[in-house]
Amino acid sequence: MLLQHQTWQEIETYLTRSKGIILPIGSTEQHGPNGLIGTDAICAEVIARGVGEAADALVGPTIGVGIAVHHMGFAGSMTVRPSTLIAIMHDYVLSLARHGFRRFFFINGHGGNIATCQAAFAEIYAEFEGAVGLRRDDELRCRLANWWDGKAMSVLSKEVFGDDEGSHATASEVALTQFALPETIKQAQMDPPRAPSGRFHGPADYRRRFPDGRIGSNPSLATPEKGKRFYETSVPELVKSYTSFVGENA
Ligand code: NI
Repeated sequence: MLLQHQTWQEIETYLTRSKGIILPIGSTEQHGPNGLIGTDAICAEVIARGVGEAADALVGPTIGVGIAVHHMGFAGSMTVRPSTLIAIMHDYVLSLARHGFRRFFFINGHGGNIATCQAAFAEIYAEFEGAVGLRRDDELRCRLANWWDGKAMSVLSKEVFGDDEGSHATASEVALTQFALPETIKQAQMDPPRAPSGRFHGPADYRRRFPDGRIGSNPSLATPEKGKRFYETSVPELVKSYTSFVGENA
């Protein structure tokens, strides 16, 4: 159920039965030779839509550009400053809170967003509590859930890709986008098949160490069928987390 596909009357009715909303958050950054630049936003969005359908919950607009400074050595990557992302999240949440939403479940597609999301939550709580005081029955809560979180997901990734999963342009995220958008599947030669792993500093250092953009992964192993398995494992995990989060009273 997408917020943007409802009328205001439908949202008023929804609010009589739920104060919860799911907000996908991703990134727009290079994902290696066969990974889409929108991978992190696409993954967060497709999982969020699945969770929204299964949990009968609203899904708000995707925050599509995140914290991606270290990918700026590759054409097409975009980044926002942490202060910008905090401001966007603050404004999204506080505008929805005016209508009565109180449980904000962010489904995240990009590890680089995590620290800034936590800072944004602190900013939101400070402002909201300053405005409404500490009324227990009117608490506003935010939660961050990564689509790859949970034991079942790490077991699946080990089983399907083993050490070829990697840490950027991962085989599983590329597979998930192939499942979500089969018309965008790319073929590319990768040399070496599994990219090197390691640390990096700024964007120039990243590009020098990881010339095709991947870190530790072999996403040429990705297929839409494998992506479907990740989708079908992630969605029920997150439905459980969302349902217990919106049901929290204590
Ligand atoms: Ni990614």
